[in-house]
Amino acid sequence: MCGIVGYIGLPEKSAEHQALDVLLEGLRRLEYRGYDSAGVATVTGGRVEARKKSGKLVNLINEIEESPVAPASLGIGHTRWATHGGPTDQNAHPHLADEAKLAVIHNGIIENFAELKEKLRAEGHTFESQTDTEVAAKLIGRCFTGDAEGDLTEAMRLASNELEGAFTLLAVHADQPDRVVASRRNSPLVIGLGEGENFLGSDVSGFIDFTREAVELEQDQIVTITTGDVTIINFDGSSAEGKRFHIDWDASAAEKGGYDSFMEKEINEQPKAVEETLLGRTDAEGRLALDELRIDPEELKNTSKIIVLACGTAAYAGQVAKYAIEHWTRIPVEVELAHEFRYRDPIIDETTLVVSISQSGETMDTLMAVRYAKEQGARTLAICNTNGSTIPRESDAVLYLHAGPEIAVASTKAFLAMVTASYLLGLYLGQLRGQLFTGQIKDILADLHSIPSKIQSILDNADQIKDLARRMADTPSVLFLGRHVGFPVAMEGALKLKELAYIHAEGFAAGELKHGPIALIEEGQPVFVVVPSPHGRHSLHSKVVSNIQEVRARGAKTITVAEDGDDAVREFSETVFHVPETQPLLMPLLTTVPLQIFACALAAEKGYDVDQPRNLAKSVTVE
Ligand code: F6R
Repeated sequence: MCGIVGYIGLPEKSAEHQALDVLLEGLRRLEYRGYDSAGVATVTGGRVEARKKSGKLVNLINEIEESPVAPASLGIGHTRWATHGGPTDQNAHPHLADEAKLAVIHNGIIENFAELKEKLRAEGHTFESQTDTEVAAKLIGRCFTGDAEGDLTEAMRLASNELEGAFTLLAVHADQPDRVVASRRNSPLVIGLGEGENFLGSDVSGFIDFTREAVELEQDQIVTITTGDVTIINFDGSSAEGKRFHIDWDASAAEKGGYDSFMEKEINEQPKAVEETLLGRTDAEGRLALDELRIDPEELKNTSKIIVLACGTAAYAGQVAKYAIEHWTRIPVEVELAHEFRYRDPIIDETTLVVSISQSGETMDTLMAVRYAKEQGARTLAICNTNGSTIPRESDAVLYLHAGPEIAVASTKAFLAMVTASYLLGLYLGQLRGQLFTGQIKDILADLHSIPSKIQSILDNADQIKDLARRMADTPSVLFLGRHVGFPVAMEGALKLKELAYIHAEGFAAGELKHGPIALIEEGQPVFVVVPSPHGRHSLHSKVVSNIQEVRARGAKTITVAEDGDDAVREFSETVFHVPETQPLLMPLLTTVPLQIFACALAAEKGYDVDQPRNLAKSVTVE
């Protein structure tokens, strides 16, 4: 949420890397983090030059074309997801202070901004925006001219100690044109290392075009980058070391590569994403080998309860995980929305394993829930796609997805990779506890390894789904039904449609229909049904077929997602999307795909930006 970049280069280097170009390239790559406004500030000739504009980055670029910025070798850039104050030009970052010599950008929420604002007002400061960021800018400016005696690093440190909440702040000052200074508490920031130049970014995509060497920061730290140096200190002034890492994906992984949208590309990358998640996680005997987990296997074995914490799509992955993990391990699994978890006095002890699931690894709700669980004594394990992000760093163990960067705001390939990683965790726990025999594990793994080619066959036959989406572009509401692992898939299908196509959509457990939602059915109401495998247990298949008939009898237009060879649904479906056969528990890896393609195609048909849906942002770093 909010994208942040900072850059400093040598003047001669800046002939080839103009600060403005580096900043705009970084913002282009980070725009998925927020697109309510964008802005830059550079320092040149003893003054700060700032440009900012509401709306997408292209508006800022047009503004700079009309009012060019002088060549500069350092600067900061911001793309905003509005929190305090609407998405206006005035509220766009950067915010200026100290007679417009200081420029500041910010990601996060400063909780004590109201009292600080009052204090600063009483001292004679005036404010032009409704943002908490402007308060931080004035505070840093006041420290710079006061106790910090013209030292921007010290001014940032003094100000940061007065701030409460979550923030990444970046600042440049015309009187110290040799540095960019940043501060971090509970909000993401990474450093990019170059030769004669250094970078800052909310994540590595902010500088991936220029370097693959990066440094992680801890909480409550200040970093100062100059052309030749990176200096890190803690908020108490003591010096600190960052952790260096190499970025193992290249810039092309974050390009559209011929697709119309990142989302389309990422849907098509799903066979590879699942393959990468499975890669290298079995030993020569075909047993699960998750040596990367840093928790003692004995401790894991004695787990009495698992609590899965996540938000949105990741929480639906968690709900699929519950079915599989409980079945394979007999360990009770609770799945909870991370933002609800710590407010209900949950029962946790040292035998509780808290599994967080997060693509970004930065979702504030999930991070706070993990911290709470740790405080209560639980073991914490993160399932995450983003190397070095905060949630895995603060957890006892991590299972990385290796799905590659996910740029589209709506999650697709990360969802399938999360489900895959959850299966691996379930199988591993089942193996440790002797609940699953090696033969059973091998069979399930063999089926998992066949999933990528099955996803590919769905992708190769997507035209039928896209045609339906085009025909349904005017539909005002769609319902999704599912049972067992198909229930979270139904909710995920509904979420994709809501967020991309702005259509009212709800996912229900098919069995719940008769307890209320069936009242919504009227002539022509489209209902998607995720049909369980006819080979599954508990005759769920026939129950869902009955549910299809019930809604159809009341005028619904039924669209089913069913296994190849499931002919029983044909008679009751207007359209059937077939998916290849697999074990019932693994079906979400296949049944989700047509629903993603449908939502993406329908939104594109309506002319919406599928990569950047309105009001949303990737990586929700505020609570
Ligand atoms: C929906 C979507 C969101 C995220 C949620 C959690 O398409 O992407 O619902 O799943 O915000 O994000 P992460 O996984 O980064 O914690």
